[in-house]
Amino acid sequence: MSILIKNGQIVTAAETYIADLYIEKDKIVAIGKNLEYNADKVIDATNKLVFPGGIDPHVHLDMPFMGTYSSDDYETGTRAALHGGTTMVIDFILQTQGDSLHNALKTWQKKSEGKAIGDYSYHMAVTDFNDDVAKEVVEMIDEEGISSFKTFMAYKGALMIDDGQMVQLMKVVKKHGGLVTVHATNGDMIDSLIAKNRQAGNLSPLYHYLSQPEVTEAEASGRFADMLHYTGCPGYIVHMTCEGALNAVRKATTRNQKVFVETCTQYLTLDASLYEKDFEGAKWVMSPPLREKKDQAALWSGINQGLVQVVGTDHCPFMWEQKKMGKDDFSKIPNGHPAIEHRMELLFSEGVNKGRISLTKYVEVSSTNAAKIFGMYPRKGTIAIGSDADVVVFDPNKEHTFSAETHHMNCDYSGYEGMKVKGKTETVILRGQIAIENEDCKLNPGYGQFIPRGKTSKIVI
Ligand code: URP
Ligand code: ZN
Ligand code: ZN
Repeated sequence: MSILIKNGQIVTAAETYIADLYIEKDKIVAIGKNLEYNADKVIDATNKLVFPGGIDPHVHLDMPFMGTYSSDDYETGTRAALHGGTTMVIDFILQTQGDSLHNALKTWQKKSEGKAIGDYSYHMAVTDFNDDVAKEVVEMIDEEGISSFKTFMAYKGALMIDDGQMVQLMKVVKKHGGLVTVHATNGDMIDSLIAKNRQAGNLSPLYHYLSQPEVTEAEASGRFADMLHYTGCPGYIVHMTCEGALNAVRKATTRNQKVFVETCTQYLTLDASLYEKDFEGAKWVMSPPLREKKDQAALWSGINQGLVQVVGTDHCPFMWEQKKMGKDDFSKIPNGHPAIEHRMELLFSEGVNKGRISLTKYVEVSSTNAAKIFGMYPRKGTIAIGSDADVVVFDPNKEHTFSAETHHMNCDYSGYEGMKVKGKTETVILRGQIAIENEDCKLNPGYGQFIPRGKTSKIVI
């Protein structure tokens, strides 16, 4: 299959220009003015943007969590991602405490192989660190193409490791060229605030928010940065929500440290007033919770200051029936919301179209930086000769409305119901094949490939 995209405005993290793009088999083969190729398919991209397929490095597909499973699996989740212009996701494998990383890897391979439509990779969540696991960490980097290790400073008893384990993990990961990522919130503080609220009969979703004040995230982010500094390990803080946590990272940069930061579209666009809607607030029960307008402003600035390098989603959907597990107790509401499909369009509409970020910054934070930080660049994350032909043709002016009636995520409500956005994914190409055209997915389960990742020790962004 060969595809010629004519007259589009090509956007990379570095520049934007009008040109043609020629794709042969799974790679980008030529970029230039007035290209003359006899292609199987020609796409007229006049007045359209042409940018690299989005990479969402924070999704949870078919994940066991809080007594249930997230409702999108690899098939429905990667299909929805493609509809929104995200061609690759990085999901989280969860080690079961007391069991091995290899067993966890096998479990996640069964979930994804033959099912994924879009490309994917895995972060390995280390929930129980010891000498045997240390050996497995090295094997994951050297043999399995998994070079990022997720840690939790919260969810005690299921996922959390202590600071001693964290430091030992960082030492091994640094030595072998990997990266430690973190859910940075103070688990002990949060658990005690939850217990106090429950004792006092404060059981509505609002108290999920009130049990995780900004300080719990700021403190843990600073502590994580200090441990990175002590060990010399590169690190990445997932789903950052607030000014206080960002300031902890700003301080770390004065020590010339590499602490990468991801925020998510919901923290840039939604705020904590949504928790005042009685049980409907459960739609946005996620951890950390939505914050204040001043935090949104800090995060947008952080993107432009280069302190926030990546915008993901933390996609972790649950059906309304599942959310109702916490009808009488906010602490039993499964944490997470559906977002994988909307990231590229929402960030474009609220970011580029509202003048908050530039086009090149948009590509940088939605695709290129994730590819660089997680060891896949330049195969993924850019429009360049020799790169995988993962390409989005995007109409920057088309207006549409998000709704559970029309979205493709396996979730019976939307956290963005009725939200109007400007900018729409039109055609999506994944490794040289048309994935989305005329709002229809053309690829079948099993097309999506596992993308092994390289060492992350030489990250330059
Ligand atoms: O609420 C969330 N974020 N659910 C998914 C698990 C996590 O902490 O990322
Ligand atoms: Zn988390
Ligand atoms: Zn998450």
